[in-house]
Amino acid sequence: MKILGFYIGGHDSNIMIYDSETKFIKYSKSERYFGVKHHRANLSWLKDYINKYDFNPDVIVWTDGNRNNLGQCSSSQELYKKTTNNEINRVLGTNADCYIIDHHFGHGLSCWPLVDTDKVKYAFCSDGKGDHLDRFSIIKNPYEIIDEKYLEPGVLTKPENIIKIKSFCPSATLDHVGIAMKLYGAVIDMAGKVMGAYAYGDIKQDHVDKCLNSPVLKNGWTSIKDMSDEDFKPLDDLLYAHALCEGPYNLDNKEFVDYLTSNHYVVGKGVESLFLENVDDKDDVITYSGGTAQNTVWNEELFSNFKNLHIPPHPYDGGMSLGCVEFARILFKLDKMTLPNFPYVQDDEETSIPDESTIDKVVDMLVDGKIVGWFQGAGEIGPRALGNRSILMHPGLEKGKDIINERVKHREYWRPFAPSVLEEYAGEWFDLDVPSPYMLRAVTTKEDKRKIIPSVTHKDFSSRVQTVSKEQNLLYHTLIKKFYDKTGIPLVLNTSLNDGGQPIFSYRKQCVEFYNKVDIDAICIGSELHCKDT
Ligand SMILES: [Fe+2]
Repeated sequence: MKILGFYIGGHDSNIMIYDSETKFIKYSKSERYFGVKHHRANLSWLKDYINKYDFNPDVIVWTDGNRNNLGQCSSSQELYKKTTNNEINRVLGTNADCYIIDHHFGHGLSCWPLVDTDKVKYAFCSDGKGDHLDRFSIIKNPYEIIDEKYLEPGVLTKPENIIKIKSFCPSATLDHVGIAMKLYGAVIDMAGKVMGAYAYGDIKQDHVDKCLNSPVLKNGWTSIKDMSDEDFKPLDDLLYAHALCEGPYNLDNKEFVDYLTSNHYVVGKGVESLFLENVDDKDDVITYSGGTAQNTVWNEELFSNFKNLHIPPHPYDGGMSLGCVEFARILFKLDKMTLPNFPYVQDDEETSIPDESTIDKVVDMLVDGKIVGWFQGAGEIGPRALGNRSILMHPGLEKGKDIINERVKHREYWRPFAPSVLEEYAGEWFDLDVPSPYMLRAVTTKEDKRKIIPSVTHKDFSSRVQTVSKEQNLLYHTLIKKFYDKTGIPLVLNTSLNDGGQPIFSYRKQCVEFYNKVDIDAICIGSELHCKDT
């Protein structure tokens, strides 16, 4: 069976195609193809993509929430339906069976590359806006409720398994702050930009107590289904109103940053309590997705509670097509899929492999404190560079964060840079006893190591680590190991290879232009090494 899954949405459009007989599978996010961050594609892009592979789908699954007039499920309690909308087939020139799935359900099902799907007990999902203004969803036994019987007209998908909350939007609190601070960029990027600022303030205990005593947090989430916007209003009033001070809205204003820190803490507690109150057994297998699942600080609390929590590197809308394809796989009882080379699955320009001497030259430059671009293999799924589309630097430079910001990245000064650490040494340098391959946790740097790696140690001594194993990325592991052999430090600073406001690069041409434009010392594109001072 040939399956096409796609999401156009309002931003971060993406497509996956899968042939269950040949196991052929491809994924692409349109922003990488067009070079436009958060790109919103149209049906023509999908048509071009399937034509490129001469792929004629038997089944098409999408989720749209009517963002592009492509239909939606009838209510929050209907997670999927068959549709006779022929617009898709007409434009794509196909004759496939068509299904629409709910936005949050799509997020939940997109976690399949990480987890034994037979064991998933809960799919938690939170983002800025799902379908029908859903903000937070908890779907119990998400795989058991995919059944033809729920495709009958008027038959809802087991409502007792579905909890949907419209009024609790964790990231909106941070978006609100980012807008008040007049940060540049898209609103959907505000939460990510503001997140790192929590470490600059102190908790205002009286404010936190008031928030935690507001009805919705004090009484728990047990009556969620009956909650209305009015129930949330007391909490919202405490969290908003321009973060409760008159300004100025910058981190030099102690009152402002203390409220920011306190609100960040309160909302994280809200997320945590939703998990704690709705999961029967802490050992249950849980998936967590949606844009909110990119908050590494809130995630850390969840990981400390739930050992079988799985967050994909693509929790945002850019991963939605994976959920769409997975839906069809379950509905038609097909074998489980594998996604070779995950998470390096972006369908973009792959490279030749650098030889030993080229890797050695890159390592020598890093040891010397140079900033080096590193473009290798295929691009990563998700918003974070995980060693194939990265800018690298020595993590031990005293003012390293300022240097890389001034010369290349130009990010807000309060935002931390992440380390990529050899998995086998991660436990010696960070409070981390399991792999963390996708930069989704904020773990504490060991006290005796903090002074050694100031460029990747945040103000509160946390670090958003990426552990690197040979199995995940042999080339990147080799590079870091060589750096370790020369410095005794088993990690490098890793930030995404892009220019301000652009998506991560997908093509050699973008890399060369970038190299010529910015103050970066070198760039290694496959086996091709460009250096400015030699
Ligand atoms: Fe979403």
